[in-house]
Amino acid sequence: MFSRILGTGSYLPQRLVTNAELAQQVDTSDEWVRSRTGIAQRHIAADDECTSDLALEASRRALEAAGIEAKDLGLIIVATTTPDMIFPSTACILQAKLGARSGAAFDVQAVCSGFVYALATADAMLRGGACHYALVVGAEIYSRILDWNDRGTCVLFGDGAGAVVLAAGDQPGILAQHLHADGAHREILCVPGTVANGAVSGHPFVTMEGGAVFRFAVRVLDEVSREVLASAGVGVDQVDWFIPHQANARIIEATGRKLGLGPERCIVTVDRHANTSAASVPLALDLAVRDGRIQSQHHVLLAAVGGGFTWGAVLLKWV
Ligand code: UT7
Repeated sequence: MFSRILGTGSYLPQRLVTNAELAQQVDTSDEWVRSRTGIAQRHIAADDECTSDLALEASRRALEAAGIEAKDLGLIIVATTTPDMIFPSTACILQAKLGARSGAAFDVQAVCSGFVYALATADAMLRGGACHYALVVGAEIYSRILDWNDRGTCVLFGDGAGAVVLAAGDQPGILAQHLHADGAHREILCVPGTVANGAVSGHPFVTMEGGAVFRFAVRVLDEVSREVLASAGVGVDQVDWFIPHQANARIIEATGRKLGLGPERCIVTVDRHANTSAASVPLALDLAVRDGRIQSQHHVLLAAVGGGFTWGAVLLKWV
């Protein structure tokens, strides 16, 4: 038994914020942000939009592309670091908004690796016979956990959602997947706050040691990509498309260089929507499917790294 992606979808909030606009608020410049990160703009959710709303739009598009209805779903997993509320899960809220009533629904919290974690989890559940169709979503509203006075972090992130519909079957699909975590590195990228006794306790905004995160990301994206390729018996030369987490164009270039994957085989979207955390990989996947770059029988390598630290990769053959 295998699982395969039947359809993809994505959604970006309407409001676009350019680097020049941010430079009016904090001491930064379009030139600095572009040259250090490749980012030109980001989308920011409206005040009345929540993560499940972004997830809903992306999910509807993925369901339409897959040709199935929400009521057919036996599993919904939402990867998010910015849930609508403490509970219920954003996946349960999404399920209700989609009008689905049965099957399992839960969130995965693995920060920027969240979509890869959720995809690997859904793959394992479908292969184990849990259900026939699954919806896997990465959705985030990072703009609400950013300190807009901190130029070191606020220029890096954006809001968005991406989704895929998976089906179980006897043809792959997903060829291999590997997940890792090492909580010893939790302090270099975190939001060290919580809600307790009716108040926010600790610091409720993203804090980051940029250089340490950069070096860690390049190392583990390379390692886990090699690991997943080796376990599927697929060579780097057979990879048609590499879709890494979209945090920084320089991280993508450096990882591609280490792996021997040139820019012509890397999907890059960080320029247009910045780092959307768990949404970044499915947003890039949806773009490359819809613009026709990803074709039947192509090998597609997804890899992500995020706070925790967490990292993982999924290798799939596009059906
Ligand atoms: O999903 C994972 C999430 N995070 C990441 O992937 C981030 C990984 N790290 C990075 O992308 C990069 O390390 C950054 C983009 C965050 C920083 O780039 P860098 O080339 O490592 O720059 P730096 O940290 O060495 O900072 C260089 C200078 C510093 O000034 P001084 O100390 O040299 O005077 C910073 O204060 O740039 C300054 N700086 C800025 N200047 C203008 C930091 N942020 C900004 C800014 N605008 N927005």
